[in-house]
This record gives sequence, structure tokens and C-alpha cells, in this order.
Amino acid sequence: MSTRTALFFCAIVVLVTSFLAAQQNTPTLTDDQVNARVESILQQMNLHEKIGQMNQLGAAEWNKDPVSFEEHARRCDAGSFLWTIDSKLMDRLQHVAMTECRIKIPLLFGYDVIHGYRAMFPIPIGMAASWDPAMVEKAQTIAALEASSTGLNWDFTPMVDIARDPRWGRIVEGAGEDPYLGAAIARAQVLGLQGPQLGTPGHMVASVKHFAGYGAADGGRDYDSSYISEELFRNVYLPPFHAAIKAGAGTVMSAYMDLNDVPASGNKWLLRDILRRDLGFRGFVISDAEAVKSLINHGYARDMQDAAYKGITAGVNMDMASKTYLDNLEGLVKAGKVKEADIDEMVRQILAIKVRMGLFEHPYVDLSKSEAILRDPSHRQYTRVAAQRAMVLLRNENHTLPLNKDLKSVAVIGPLADAAKDLTGSWGVDNATVGPSILAAIRAKLPSARVEYVAGGEMKRAFLPVDWIDHSREDAKPMTPEELAAEVNKSVEAAKAADVTVLVLGENSTMSGEGSSRSTLVLPGNQQHLLEAIAGSGKPVVIVLINGRPLDITWASQHVPAILEAWYGGTEAANAIVDTLFGDNNPGGKLPFTWPRSSGQIPIYYAHNRTQAPEDDPKFTSRYWDVSTFPLYPFGYGLSYTQFEFSNLHLSSPTVKIGDKLEVTAEVQNTGSVAGDEVAQLYIHQQAGSASRPVRQLKGFERITLAPGEKKTVHFTLGKDELSYWSGQSKSWIEEPEQFDVWVGGDSKAPLHATFKVEP
Ligand code: BGC
Repeated sequence: MSTRTALFFCAIVVLVTSFLAAQQNTPTLTDDQVNARVESILQQMNLHEKIGQMNQLGAAEWNKDPVSFEEHARRCDAGSFLWTIDSKLMDRLQHVAMTECRIKIPLLFGYDVIHGYRAMFPIPIGMAASWDPAMVEKAQTIAALEASSTGLNWDFTPMVDIARDPRWGRIVEGAGEDPYLGAAIARAQVLGLQGPQLGTPGHMVASVKHFAGYGAADGGRDYDSSYISEELFRNVYLPPFHAAIKAGAGTVMSAYMDLNDVPASGNKWLLRDILRRDLGFRGFVISDAEAVKSLINHGYARDMQDAAYKGITAGVNMDMASKTYLDNLEGLVKAGKVKEADIDEMVRQILAIKVRMGLFEHPYVDLSKSEAILRDPSHRQYTRVAAQRAMVLLRNENHTLPLNKDLKSVAVIGPLADAAKDLTGSWGVDNATVGPSILAAIRAKLPSARVEYVAGGEMKRAFLPVDWIDHSREDAKPMTPEELAAEVNKSVEAAKAADVTVLVLGENSTMSGEGSSRSTLVLPGNQQHLLEAIAGSGKPVVIVLINGRPLDITWASQHVPAILEAWYGGTEAANAIVDTLFGDNNPGGKLPFTWPRSSGQIPIYYAHNRTQAPEDDPKFTSRYWDVSTFPLYPFGYGLSYTQFEFSNLHLSSPTVKIGDKLEVTAEVQNTGSVAGDEVAQLYIHQQAGSASRPVRQLKGFERITLAPGEKKTVHFTLGKDELSYWSGQSKSWIEEPEQFDVWVGGDSKAPLHATFKVEP
């Protein structure tokens, strides 16, 4: 899709949004106006109604609640419902809350609209791989427009947890390993979801999650404890949260796990000192699902009452789905253990968000408009742009890609090649639009070629971990070794008979996401075997990867000439993949994480510290004996069908005073013969100081498009924000008068180098 078409679609989104804005005209309220409004509501509320506001109920049939959702709303039991996309139900509940509950307070309807509602965009790690915050913002604008048209007004997005262990399945939901990229993507998501301010029509309130340190789970096992030093926590894990909060995120979701032995959802230091005092958060905190109740499971709370006490004391305003507040807070107040003033404080923060959202004025959604919004073809078309921009070309020997559209025959192999639904990835909303499979898209692109498909194996939709699967169940029975061998043989025959083989490898969409940790990154099932057999066919092979985490493709990287990382790209993923394979899209995405050679290298990330020995010391530097110290592909890496050259790195001055700004420029030229995108990246390193600093840290980037031969200058600014770090010794952010390195280039190994000095 051309840039012009993409701009056209964006213009439509902007027009629809402004149309909705003109319709509702939500006024901007000053803090004083919000506070006055909140106080007047609060004064009319009784204790039960206040506690009701602190309670979020699941409105999904599987909740098995003897009291109906409506009855709960009538009794003023809830400030919010979640887990439903039934717009009629939401509308009914809102009417009950606004007319039948004694105190008329509009409900929030929460859902995980993570990467699209009807039109699905790439999974978040893929969106981050675009290094294109403007695209991410537009994608989330569309997601919010669609979702809000159905009555949803609260989105449990963005997930901004830094992940440096890809065994952790939720790496798929975030922006990867780096705080700077993570902050940029977090900001873009919040702006897209919420618009310029809360209450902007066609938008929702965002919930930035999971506060905080969830991605550092021991062993990459979801929900396991995180142990993070305060230095690492503030320098690496918090910046994306801070960026989301600065962008106006109205709510924050507290995490499940123990952080340094104190569960995050009962952690006062985390939710009060860090979140409110240090990061300046003024919205409200929702626990993760049942996380208040599960303070008991952690061995932190004695019973439900103690869990409620610890949740509210820590600063969790709203209890998601566990009813621990609803059932216990009143008793705690009556027993004098919790003051009503503390309840008031929690409720004020919830009401303030509802007031700022304009919900009291506009509690209902005009559902008659929804279908037109959901059917808007520009949304689906923009998912194709997004999926194209997320592509990362990992390997392309001898210009294997792009493929020629005149091919007479193609073999399409791999169980994921004809798995349309998997392309939408985890957290697909129930009624998300599933687009074509890769096989169908190849057939559509090459109507006169012979396209032969062989699965080559199977990709069981195993939602359960291995030791939980009941193999006696018919649908859980794996293929026998004989059946698998026949599939591989058929695949090799198909490859031999074709001009080229497109081999689609990866994980099915349930293999990454919540609760989907793996002990190893090896290709699941018989895919490694299939890969080696196909590569041995003697015919050209290109690999397309469908996944949400790096996989062990070390063998492939030595034996297969072309590898395209396509993620779970959403509704138009397959068309975007095929556009890229056949040169209608030139890939320009870059890795948002370091790609390990093997699982044993984990954790491996580019911004590590130096050690006692120089890196080229063969024995005493930090290294393994059996595998290289270096990753397979570095952070920020990605190829293109053209080449780029960086030159003329220039600094506005060789020195900069503490607090002042330094301008850095470099030239980037497209030296190849087709137009393409490059992501110019700037890294720094502080050479000495009161703490060891990472070998490199990303501190600027820009994705640019260059015509063949074209040259552009990229500009970066380094100031206090980029040159400071949080010091564990002084317990504050410091900028030190020291010597710095700076590099600019196309990945984290960028060689173009200069130095400068920060002076007192
Ligand atoms: C997840 C959250 C999600 C919530 C509500 C939890 O299990 O950890 O990320 O927002 O469920 O669906």
C-alpha cells in the first residue's frame, strides 16, 4: 500500500473522530471543577455505594454469579464491569446504573482490546518492531474508535512490561527489552487510545500495565516472583510506565507477582511511593484479575479480610473480579480497621476519572452508529499497512527476496501456512476479523502459478502445558511418528517440484501470551526436522516466521538464504507477508529485542554492563565455552531490499554543560536501487562515573523513507533526560560530568562513533 493511500485512511479516521467530537462536545474541566464535582457526588454516597465503586465485576457468563449482573448494578455493587463485548448488555447495565441504582454513577466497561477490536493489528511486539510510534498511535486510534462504538470505554492496554527473557510468553504483549523504545511505544498507545485528553469522543481510558516488574519473572515463568534492584527497576522497568503516565494514562493495573517478596497488588511502596509520589500518577489503580484475593495465595494475606485490607492500604482503588472489596471493606470500616476517609480517597480518584471522561454527561453510546464504524473498510486496510511496517527481514543472502511474481510454481509448507486464525495472535477479541491464510494470499497474488500446500506436520492448539494435556482425548492426540514422516516426505517432494518453497514456521497463537511460558526457544513440534529436510531439497527456500518471541533459528540462519520475521500480523497479516515476499512492500522493521542463538544464552540483552576484562579477552571476559557470547541478531537489527549508508556523524559541540542540550546529526543514504525505510538509531555510553553504565543505550531513533540514491540528515537531541540515570548511591537521578560515546546507525552494533564530554 502506498504512503498516499495510508494517509488517506488516516484522514478518514481523523474525520470520523472529529465528527464524533463535534457531536458530543465534551468540555475540558479544570482540576478545581473536577474536584468540586467529585466532592459533591461523594457527599451523596453511602458506604456501600462507595465500596461498590471500588468493585469491578466480571460480566461474562462463566462467572457463575448467583446474583445477576443487572441486579448487581441495581444494588450499586459495582463501579465497572469487564469481560463482555455484548453491547446490548452494556447498554442495559448502564441504564440500570443511571436510573435504578440509588446513586447515579456511570459504569466503566473494561476489556482487553490489545491490538485491535474488529480490525486486528499486529501483536504489540510486532507493532514495536515497526519503530514507528505514529503508526502505533493510529492503529490504537482505530482500535479505540471501534471498541468505544460498542459501549466499551476502558481498555486494559498498553502492556509496557520490559521483557528480557523470551521464555516469558507475555513478551508478545509488550515492546521488548528496551526502556527507551518501550517508552516511545507506550506513549503512542496511550495517545491513540485516549486521544489528546480523557473524554475525547471515539476514545477510551487506557490502563497501563502491569505495575511493575512483571516481565522479570524468575525463569520466564509467568506469574513467578521478580527480584529487581532499585537501580534496575528505576532505570529499566519504570520508564515506559512513566511515559504512559505523562501521556495521560487514566488508570494503572497492578501486577500479579511478588516484587522483591511483596506482591505488587499489595505493595504500598510500589503503588504509593513510586507510582503516585515519584511518577506523579493522578488516576486510579485497578488490580489485575483477582489479584487482591490472590494476596492470600501468595502467603501475604491471612484471609479475604486481610487481603482487602492489604489491597486498599497499598493503594489499589478497584478490585478486579474477586469481590474481595465488596465482601470485606464494609466490615473493616465497621471494625475501625479501615477509615471511611481512606475509602473516600480511593473513590475520589475513581470518580475523578469518570468525571474527566465526561461519562456523567454521556453515559450511553449510540449503538446505531456502531456497525458503520466496525465495517469501515479503511480500518482493515490500515491493518495491512501496520503489518507491512512490522516486518523484519532477518536474512537475505544473494537477494533471494523479493521473489519474482512470474514464478511458475511455489510450494507452501508448514502447519502455520494455512492457519488464518493464528495470524491474529493472542488477545484477539471474540469477533475480530480473521483475514486470509498465507496460502490463500499467495494463491491470490499468483493466480496463474501452481501453488502446492503441504502441512508437513501439525501445530496442536495445545492451550494446556504438556503435563496437563489429556492425550487420551481424540482432539489432543498427536500425529504418530509414521504420519509425521509421511508429511515431511510429501513436503520434500513438493519442494523439489517447485521453483521456490515458502516455509512457514513458528508457534501457534496460544503458545505465547499469558500463562504461555516455554523452557526453550526451539521450534515446536517437528518443525526443525521439517526445516532440515526442506533445506536439503536443493531448491530455494524462504522462511516466514509467525511468532511472538524469538525462536531458535540458528540452524536456519546458516542454511536457509532468506528469513522474514512476520509476527502475528493481524487481519491483513497474510497479504502483508505476501506483499513483502514479492516486493510490493520493502521491509523496514527492526528487532525490539536481542535474538539469542540458543535458550542457554537467556537472559541476553544489548544494554548490559561491561565486565572486569575487555570484551576481546579470550579467557577472562564474560562468555560461554560452548556458544558465542554474541546473539544471533542484535537489538535494533533488520535488513531491507535496499542498502543504507550512515556518514558524517556530527555533534554541535565536543562538550555540553550539565543540563544543557547537545545536537547530534548524521547522514543516511539509500545506496541501493529501490526505495526503502531505515530506522536511524542513536546509542550512548557513559565511560566512567559513580556506577557502571550499560555498554550502549538507545537514546533516539527515527524511521525514514528514502528513494534510491536519496540522502537525508537525521537529528537527535541529547539533554538531561537522555544523559541522566538513577543512582542507587544518591537515590536520585544524576547527570555526571564524564566522557560519553555516541553511535548512530541502523542497529545496536552501529559503528559510526564520536565522543563528547559532559562538563560541570
Ligand atoms: C491479565 C491482564 C488482563 C486481565 C483482564 C489478566 O489475567 O493478566 O493483562 O488485563 O486479565 O482480562
